[in-house]
Amino acid sequence: MNLTVIDHPLARHYLTVLRDTTTEPEAFRAAARGLTYSLILEATKRLPLNEIEVETPMETTTGYEVHDVVAVAVLRAGLGMLDAVLSMIPNCKVGFAGVQRDEETALPHEYYARLPDLSNASVFILEPMLATGGSLSWAVDKVKSSGAKDITALCVVTAPDGVRKMYDDHPDVHIVAAAHDRELNDAAYIVPGLGDMGDRLFGTL
Ligand code: URA
Repeated sequence: MNLTVIDHPLARHYLTVLRDTTTEPEAFRAAARGLTYSLILEATKRLPLNEIEVETPMETTTGYEVHDVVAVAVLRAGLGMLDAVLSMIPNCKVGFAGVQRDEETALPHEYYARLPDLSNASVFILEPMLATGGSLSWAVDKVKSSGAKDITALCVVTAPDGVRKMYDDHPDVHIVAAAHDRELNDAAYIVPGLGDMGDRLFGTL
C-alpha cells in the first residue's frame, strides 16, 4: 500500500479543528501548520543523512545533517503546509506547481510551474486534499520530468479515488496523510472532508 495514515493525538486534534465548519481562517492556518508538523515527522523517517564530525564542548563526535530536500507546494492549498515544512527542514528548497481543472476537458491544466533541480533530491509534494488524484498525479509527472526519483506526498485528507489513481499512475510515490475519508461527493469534494482547503485557508469563501 502506498498510503500511511498517521495516528497521533495532536494530529487528531488539529484535524478536528480543520474539519470544524466554524473555524475561522486564522485558526485554520494555525491548525494546518500544527498538523503538518506531524506529517513531516512521519514522511521524513527514512530521509538520507550525511555523516559529519561535530565538535561538542567536550570532544569531537559523529553528527548528521539533512541534505537535498525540496518541498513542492501545489497551488494554492499547498501553501498552507509550507510554513511548517520550512521551519522544520533546514536548507529546504521550494518549488511551486499551479494546476487547475480545464472545465471543457476536465483534465488538469498547468498555469504555473517553477522547480529547482530535483535529480538528487528527496521531494515532498504538498497537496492537502487528495480527492480525484488528478492534480497530484500531474504534479508527480512534473517533478519526475525534472529528475525526481524519491517522492513523498503530504496530504491532510485523502479519498479512495485519489489513492487508487495514485497507485495506478505512480505506485512508487508514498503518501502520508492525517485521514483517509469515505468518499467524494458529486462535485468531487471529500466527504466528510473539511470543505475547500484553499478557500478556508485564505478566507475566500
Ligand atoms: N479540494 C479541496 O479543497 N477540498 C476537497 O474536498 C477536494 C478538493
